[in-house]
Amino acid sequence: MPIFVKQNELKSHLKTFLEQKKTIGFVPTMGALHQGHLSLMTESLENNAVTVVSIFVNPTQFNNPEDLKKYPRTLEVDLEKINGLNKDIIVYAPSVEDIYEGNTNSKSFDYDGLEFQMEGKHRPGHFDGVGTIVKKLFEIVLPTNAYFGEKDFQQLQIVKKLVEKHRMPVNIIGCAIYREANGLAMSSRNERLSAEERKNAAIIYKIIKEAKQLFGKKSAKQVSDWVTNQFKKQSLFTLEYFEIADEKTLLECKRKSKSKQYRGFIAVFVNNIRLIDNISLK
Ligand code: PAJ
Repeated sequence: MPIFVKQNELKSHLKTFLEQKKTIGFVPTMGALHQGHLSLMTESLENNAVTVVSIFVNPTQFNNPEDLKKYPRTLEVDLEKINGLNKDIIVYAPSVEDIYEGNTNSKSFDYDGLEFQMEGKHRPGHFDGVGTIVKKLFEIVLPTNAYFGEKDFQQLQIVKKLVEKHRMPVNIIGCAIYREANGLAMSSRNERLSAEERKNAAIIYKIIKEAKQLFGKKSAKQVSDWVTNQFKKQSLFTLEYFEIADEKTLLECKRKSKSKQYRGFIAVFVNNIRLIDNISLK
């Protein structure tokens, strides 16, 4: 499996594929890979001549230094997982220096207001960090198609906006949320949960699934209040937010409109570990 740690070496390796006009699929990740990440790679492998996966824990998107420090780093195991999936996948696992070239400041991005909702409110600067790294990675890899999970639905919409605004010639493909058998959305952060917390965290998906049913007959406010009450009964979990928002604008649903599609978005703390999930309310 070809593994690159230097952007220049990766670029010259990819040059021949670009010259031959081969389609390049790209899956950016921060490692600690799980089935959710692998499902994105499978999607890319099926639809492109070449697949590139990046593994890079991006410091500029962490608003909480403790979260950055504790983020799981498991490169050897990650490489084994990728190799087990497909030996032709090209891996880019750079150092901070290689990618940031001495300047680890985020650029500031305008995503037409998408950045001020939900995760943007609770993680200041997060989407500037995401935009900074994704733009850099796209400029290095020059992908035809790039794959992002609906697990981070706001990020997916923001990346679509980023390429639209910067007129980058890449298709952004959204992929369904991959869940553990108990319904918990797969996440690298799940590794930090105790066995008991992980088992009990199934409640997050259970509650948002019930919220979806309720949304058929209740207002967004009533559903949100119901979710808030459910979490008051949970001792292990603290709700940070539950919000029903328009999928396109991510603006909170005040009054339901038939022409809009809505999604329920949730962020929950288990100890100091922050988990997010979302569900289509269609
Ligand atoms: P990371 O959290 O490693 O996720 C990499 C990609 O995998 C993202 O597109 C994310 O939405 C997707 N993903 C994570 N869990 C998933 C699941 N359970 N089902 C489906 N897809 C899932 O997101 C990032 O890294 C970073 O912000 C990044 C885009 C790499 C920029 O640093």
